[in-house]
Amino acid sequence: MKIYAINGGPRKKHNTAQLLQAALEGAAAAPCAEPVETEMIHLYDLNYNGCVSCFSCKRKGGKSYGHCAVKDDLTPVLEKLAQADGVIFGSPIYFGNITGKLRSFFERLMFAYFVYDENYSSLAPKRMPTAFVYTMNVDSTLMEQYGYRQNLQGMEMFAGRLFGEPQVLHACNTYQFDDYSKYECERFSESEKAAHRAVQFPKDLEEARKIGAAMVTAGK
Ligand SMILES: Cc1cc2nc3c(=O)[nH]c(=O)nc-3n(C[C@H](O)[C@H](O)[C@H](O)COP(=O)(O)O)c2cc1C
Repeated sequence: MKIYAINGGPRKKHNTAQLLQAALEGAAAAPCAEPVETEMIHLYDLNYNGCVSCFSCKRKGGKSYGHCAVKDDLTPVLEKLAQADGVIFGSPIYFGNITGKLRSFFERLMFAYFVYDENYSSLAPKRMPTAFVYTMNVDSTLMEQYGYRQNLQGMEMFAGRLFGEPQVLHACNTYQFDDYSKYECERFSESEKAAHRAVQFPKDLEEARKIGAAMVTAGK
């Protein structure tokens, strides 16, 4: 069984990446009759664009029907995910939504799988458990007030239709800087952020581990 984490954020050791790593650890530790392999893919390491509207994936009888025809760094990733047994998508929230890099990735991952028929039926090679893990600066009250949950539900809905209803984790009020004193950020209290990180972030990591484990259980 192979479980992937897709890091849609640029930082490889910060909040989003840590939660994704915890989810992979949870998956690897889950009881399973077969070995569970895990892999993290950092999208910011890869050179690619979003969908270019070539429509090769929809061309009748075309050799790329149902697949993205563009060849670039994302091609081997899309091939891997076609065989995946579970995927956790992670993103820091930028301007109220997922990063542009992750959105471009989703255009390439999902558009080819939707048939332009009455029901937008699916060409995804298999159903599999998925999860979305988000990290953001705002606290959970502001997340709701600013409508982030709703913004994010759009992409979750598309993934749900193709692969299966996703598990979702919103990690709020994250600690952004290694040293707050070095940055202009009077809007945020470093001590309040540090206290939240000490109490809440371990719980978020635990939740991420549970998400990874549940993915293995669901995929068996
Ligand atoms: C370009 C940019 C835009 C951001 N926009 C938002 C935002 O709209 N809402 C929010 O709560 N946090 C926002 N943030 C903060 C990040 O979402 C937050 O610090 C996140 O936890 C960073 O993830 P990382 O530690 O994995 O890099 C933004 C950060 C950057 C760099």
